[in-house]
Amino acid sequence: MSWKQDYQKKLVSAEQAAQTIPSNSRLVLGHAASTPIDVLKAMTDSKERYENVEIVHMLCLGEGRYLDEDMKGHFRHNALFVGGNSRKAVSQNQADYTPCFFNEVPSLFKEGRLPVDVALIQVSHPDEDGNCSFGLSSDYTKPAAECASLVIAEVNDQMPRVHGDNFIHVSEIDHIVETSNPLYEIPLPRIGDVEKAIGENCAKLVDDGATLQLGIGAIPDAVLLFLKDKKDLGIHTEMFSDGILELIEAGVVTGNKKSLHPGKMISTFLMGSKALYDFVDDNPAVELYPVDYVNNPAVIMQNENIVSINSCIQIDLMGQVVSETIGLKQFSGVGGQVDYVRGASMAKGGKSIIAIPSTASKGTLSRIVPFIDEGSAVTTTRNDVHFIVTEFGIAELKGKTLKQRAEALIGVAHPDFREDLIQAFNKRFTQA
Ligand code: COA
Repeated sequence: MSWKQDYQKKLVSAEQAAQTIPSNSRLVLGHAASTPIDVLKAMTDSKERYENVEIVHMLCLGEGRYLDEDMKGHFRHNALFVGGNSRKAVSQNQADYTPCFFNEVPSLFKEGRLPVDVALIQVSHPDEDGNCSFGLSSDYTKPAAECASLVIAEVNDQMPRVHGDNFIHVSEIDHIVETSNPLYEIPLPRIGDVEKAIGENCAKLVDDGATLQLGIGAIPDAVLLFLKDKKDLGIHTEMFSDGILELIEAGVVTGNKKSLHPGKMISTFLMGSKALYDFVDDNPAVELYPVDYVNNPAVIMQNENIVSINSCIQIDLMGQVVSETIGLKQFSGVGGQVDYVRGASMAKGGKSIIAIPSTASKGTLSRIVPFIDEGSAVTTTRNDVHFIVTEFGIAELKGKTLKQRAEALIGVAHPDFREDLIQAFNKRFTQA
């Protein structure tokens, strides 16, 4: 049978596909901008059909109906990262959170800790050989599909064909639902004066020829604004968004000096606007690989002069970085932060930056504190941390004593909070 005949044989409606998902099963949902739409809707529209289906994912875009209170008993979410639509359910104990490094997620699926019964994914149209691209998310989506007992794919004619280790053959899919849905987009971040000052400070740590890992949001995009005069930058990152398009067009990002995958932009997922999705479609300069490759510190470290830039919620005077909790509340997840902090620290010439506004909650709270809040989880340990950057400057912590770290951090804290920090410092370091 040709793949085309196979494809036709596997075509079902979203409702028919949803009906094949058994109760008491674990379902992994395609990630981020590749979150499936029609089959998920069919599931929640007929929730009574299901008992106790565990829905596992990291970032999920869309309304997340399965997280609502009336879904109790039918669906329960197990979050490997907490995003906007899952935050409330996790904090109200209507969903669970599993701490894990992003690079480890495929091994959780493949090595039996979280065996996958169903992978519900969204892919591009097959090419002439019958290979569909995972499009915007290779990350854990491809590994989940590789080890699931049942693979249901929405074949969306709007999903770009993105290169790399990012394909699934029609023969590996059990049920195909053809769709034509606009892809989820995220709004461009608002970059204010504080973010610009942070961006300018971070850019001072980026040399010509460096390879970049940048997260999402206003700070990474602000950093990009100050890189316009650099030369031959490269990309090896967990994800990228629209911010880098301008640098590519300006010839600043070439990848020519990369020590791993020269000339290629390597990522594990992509999320942004339609302009980004059009740019990556069938673009041989962009390659996505599963996250156990891209975010593996042993792979990251092969990128000489890599600079990773991430953010956090709070940091104490020893340099313990809290990025995923606000007190007892699980606000996000570790994602790839520690993967890159560790990979960059092992790379020749590598640097890891945690970049933050010095205050939070409209300037009423210092993010640099004597002690982290009760119940907080430390994401990047004081042993791993390298640079902390705020709008007030750069604090290099690696190789520094506790006392030197505290001094450096007070130097980049907001002036309104420095006096309190100095008192805490004196209590700790100047009394016998
Ligand atoms: N105490 C109390 N509230 C705090 C706080 C603190 N120390 N720090 C931040 N907040 C509040 C902010 O005020 C804001 O609330 P508001 O919108 O009501 O004002 C909210 O928490 C979010 O803070 P903000 O810093 O604006 O969030 P962000 O969107 O820039 O994300 C992280 C920051 C740390 C949550 C995010 O970078 C993250 O999830 N990091 C971990 C994962 C990671 O690094 N992945 C790497 C690659 S993508």
